[in-house]
Amino acid sequence: MTATLDRPVAPDAMAPARYRIGRTRQDTRDTFTIELEPVDGPMLRYRAGQFTMLDAFGVGEVPISISGDPTRPGPLEHTIRDVGAVTHALIAAPRGAVLGVRGPFGTSWDVADGMGGDVVLVAGGIGLAPLRPALLEIVRHRDRYNRVVLLYGARTPEDILFGDELRSWAHDHGIVVEVTVDNGQHAWRGKVGLVTNLVPRAGFDPHSTLALVCGPEVMMRSAAQALVARGVPGDRVRLSLERSMKCGVGLCGHCQLRDLFVCVDGPVLGYDRLAPLLSVREL
Ligand SMILES: Cc1cc2nc3c(=O)[nH]c(=O)nc-3n(C[C@H](O)[C@H](O)[C@H](O)COP(=O)(O)OP(=O)(O)OC[C@H]3O[C@@H](n4cnc5c(N)ncnc54)[C@H](O)[C@@H]3O)c2cc1C
Ligand code: FES
Repeated sequence: MTATLDRPVAPDAMAPARYRIGRTRQDTRDTFTIELEPVDGPMLRYRAGQFTMLDAFGVGEVPISISGDPTRPGPLEHTIRDVGAVTHALIAAPRGAVLGVRGPFGTSWDVADGMGGDVVLVAGGIGLAPLRPALLEIVRHRDRYNRVVLLYGARTPEDILFGDELRSWAHDHGIVVEVTVDNGQHAWRGKVGLVTNLVPRAGFDPHSTLALVCGPEVMMRSAAQALVARGVPGDRVRLSLERSMKCGVGLCGHCQLRDLFVCVDGPVLGYDRLAPLLSVREL
């Protein structure tokens, strides 16, 4: 499917719903998870991998993936790294403050396509947040998947997200979790090096594998190449792309990547479609 400007857009897609901030959890030095509850309307339903446009009123609006559990009711969760004006305003807003939420938008991981086979998830940095809903969905239906492997790379041990959940996924749900850091000072006893270096030796059957990859673009490109080199078909390797976005619904063209509008054709796309685009760095 390619993007066209005659794509139908829901009439209320540009109108933010009002959500109130509940609990906020500090995950790392610069990353926070905020919980949101609707002020007046219903809680939105979403699929793992989709994103919303979050509006810090008066500051700006940015795309952020939903990081919660799509299979259970509860507050809407987003895990946000403080990198600039809008992300800072979102995480600095106090409990009870009201934000705007549009969405959910975009494609999903469709993790159920991995049922009956192996699933390999490769995450870099904040990229673990958009993959968390897929992991929670797998955990919910763990018996329907064979081997599940999570390869996760963080900059330093202090940047590791969701530490308690990583341990629980490994110990309680039979997920093979391998964590590596770029910089292993501070008495770190685990692996040091690029997460993509873990792919060649990870234990999975490439012919039955669905691979989900999220992180910086250079890391996703290397991970996808390593997965394909192991024998995973390109259309079974899915990447979540990040692009600058304004509308989120295929109208403004800000997120355009050749014939794709990342906000509606993505953010999750198969490597078979992305490989020729990712090799052109300026796009
Ligand atoms: C589909 C999608 C899902 C995303 N999910 C998350 C998420 O779950 N958690 C999260 O923390 N962030 C996520 N992002 C990135 C987030 O949208 C940007 O960090 C945010 O727009 C930055 O806005 P700002 O005003 O805070 O900073 P700016 O002042 O706009 O930018 C600060 C720095 O971040 C860089 N930047 C800005 N926008 C992006 C972008 N879209 N991608 C990569 N770098 C960018 C800028 O080049 C600059 O270096 C997602 C982006 C997309 C497109
Ligand atoms: S077309 Fe507007 S953000 Fe994608």
